[in-house]
Amino acid sequence: MIDPLVIAAREARERAHAPFSHFKVGAALETTDGRLITGCNIENATYGLTLCAERVAIFKAVSEGMLSFRRIAVVADTDDPTPPCGPCRQILWEFAGDIEVILANLHEEKGRFSLSQLLPLPFDARLLKK
Ligand code: THU
Repeated sequence: MIDPLVIAAREARERAHAPFSHFKVGAALETTDGRLITGCNIENATYGLTLCAERVAIFKAVSEGMLSFRRIAVVADTDDPTPPCGPCRQILWEFAGDIEVILANLHEEKGRFSLSQLLPLPFDARLLKK
């Protein structure tokens, strides 16, 4: 049985705009009420303005008013699992908290982690309160 979130992330990966790295990534985010929001990486000629698939998914969701999340799947065409980069871990933590992160490639799941395993000792808004 393939997790529908992984299927959605694989489909999103097909829409990646990655003419510079040719490294296509797809993400699919599940809200606590069961909605799916997808994202793909979107590169840019200046390189630095590139957005990762995970951040596209979370910003799409937040911009549509969704603020409560359960899981995210991330798919790339690699034998080793492709985990979210550092900045994406931070953004996921701030908007989604300790969600489950499912890593998969085009053929199989490669691992399941909690975000707190990937980002131990996070900085967040709690620390800004006096
Ligand atoms: N990328 C993602 O979209 N998500 C990840 O988890 C890792 C990296 C993208 C950014 C860039 O377009 C390409 O993959 C190569 O780094």
